[in-house]
Amino acid sequence: MCGIIGYIGERKACNVIVDGLKRLEYRGYDSVGVVTEADGKLHIKKGAGKIDELKEKLSLLEMPGKRGIGHTRWATHGIPNDVNAHPHTDCSGEIAIVHNGIIENYLELKEELLQKGHKFKSDTDTEVIAHLIEDALKDFKNFEDALRYALLRLKGSFALGIIYTRDKEHLYFVRNESPLVLGIGDGEMFAASDIPAFLPYTNKVVFLDDGEYAVVTKNSFVVKDLKTGKIKDKKVHEISWTLEMAEKQGFPHFMLKEIHEQPKAIKEAIYGNAEVIDQVAREIANYEKIFIVAMGTSYHAAIVGKYLFQRLTKKAPVVEDASEFRYEFEDLVDENTLVIAITQSGETADTLAAIRLAKKRGAKVLSIVNVVGSMATRISDLVLYTHAGPEIGVAATKTYTTQLTVLTMLAIALARHLKTVDEEYLRELEAQLYEMPKYVEVALGYENKIKALAEELKEKRDFFYIGRSVSLATALEGALKLKEISYIHAEGLSAGELKHGPLALIEDGVPVVAVAPSGKTFDKMMSNIQEAKARGALIISLGDNEELEKVSDIVIKMPKVNEVLSPIVYIVPLQLLAYHLAVLRGNDPDKPRNLAKSVTVE
Ligand code: F6R
Repeated sequence: MCGIIGYIGERKACNVIVDGLKRLEYRGYDSVGVVTEADGKLHIKKGAGKIDELKEKLSLLEMPGKRGIGHTRWATHGIPNDVNAHPHTDCSGEIAIVHNGIIENYLELKEELLQKGHKFKSDTDTEVIAHLIEDALKDFKNFEDALRYALLRLKGSFALGIIYTRDKEHLYFVRNESPLVLGIGDGEMFAASDIPAFLPYTNKVVFLDDGEYAVVTKNSFVVKDLKTGKIKDKKVHEISWTLEMAEKQGFPHFMLKEIHEQPKAIKEAIYGNAEVIDQVAREIANYEKIFIVAMGTSYHAAIVGKYLFQRLTKKAPVVEDASEFRYEFEDLVDENTLVIAITQSGETADTLAAIRLAKKRGAKVLSIVNVVGSMATRISDLVLYTHAGPEIGVAATKTYTTQLTVLTMLAIALARHLKTVDEEYLRELEAQLYEMPKYVEVALGYENKIKALAEELKEKRDFFYIGRSVSLATALEGALKLKEISYIHAEGLSAGELKHGPLALIEDGVPVVAVAPSGKTFDKMMSNIQEAKARGALIISLGDNEELEKVSDIVIKMPKVNEVLSPIVYIVPLQLLAYHLAVLRGNDPDKPRNLAKSVTVE
């Protein structure tokens, strides 16, 4: 959704900012801007386009000054063009702002400021903030007081970086419903939407909470409450992410690197949760009314979670898209409810809203999150981390398979506690889960075959992904991966649904990807595949059963694993297929058009 970064210290600010923006580009990449201060003047360079193009074109690395802020944009208000790119300034040109979020009452504030004679240059909601602070400076001598007064008038979500020429020692950062982290260096300070932005310089971080702002000098920081102005006691966390984890390491794209990191990430997820999972299972064991809420890929993990719970714990959770949950289920949530929220970023606005609603209604909330210290982790009762490390590619890959790993561990621990399934069966399942990194390696070994397949399929217009039972989630996720990075139309659906309508769309040569592990519904899948085949579909099946050879044009032979574990390994070839199709079609898979990594607006 937009990334912001700020720096104050002894280095050339533009170098740190441009480098950081590159790492934040996954959050938005339609425009870029940097402002630095030198000799009491703001130096601003900004424009529409990606950072690599603009770095040269605007000479971003030749800006003077040792303090500054920067922005990479994903447009919400105002089309992506040079004028709407951040930073935005007030009339005097002394205050500059970068913003991630949406100001909901900006029209009414703009109207008021226009009447007072303020001149606006852009169509953005952000510019209002600069003018609002300028206006407040008429009544308050102290910049910080003016800032607080102005910011308290804003409604909506915002993470802000603010620089004021006359306040030479400081930078200001504010958080309300959009992520913001301070980086604590030695004689230098950083702030950014996400940790990888400043990871080359420090791993000491302070997470701001909603309604807090930070006043930062090169040697110090103080965090205060926006409403009261009172100082807050903040903990400095040392995070274990390394720079290496946030770099491509020779892979052409982050997405490919992250696909290949899955064996290691799954291992980390297993070992990272081994000691805590029983305790968490115990704390949720008595809940009968369970909702699992999430968006996008995390929602597909939720679907797998539902099947795991049904089969292993004999509980039937309701899986709901978080954006729907908050409007449709409010009355059904009470203190006897458990809400499991799944979110990679821990900052997805819809998922956070669902968590808040659940908390308000007295429910217990367990979040499964990747980003340590993110908002979801701070407002939930219980947290399980996926331990996947930073995921930079916009399309979720390793965070999905680690979500599935954690959900499997949770369902096993719960089943053990509730004695709903034979201990022997659970032990076998657990042993296979521990082997998952090895099976995922096998699936990664098919990359060349899949690349060749992508070459064959690259001109296709429509794809169908079908699956039954737990493999429905794999079909949905495979289709989502394809849509978002290759821009090919794809539908994921339950194989049983095919003949209730979608079969009408199958004609000669249309690819149907059948996710068909051995298990409860394999025979039914075979019939569904044949129905599609009879209408001319090109059948690409994934499975471990020889029978598939008889009905498929192409079989991707998968390792034999328990059906409930199959989503972890079966998604891998589909991630690779989407990746290679995207590359062959000339797309940048790390930065799909119109999308951003964390969706911090509803
Ligand atoms: C798709 C993708 C998105 C996210 C969704 C939720 O590849 O990444 O669909 O899964 O925006 O994000 P989180 O998990 O951060 O809540």
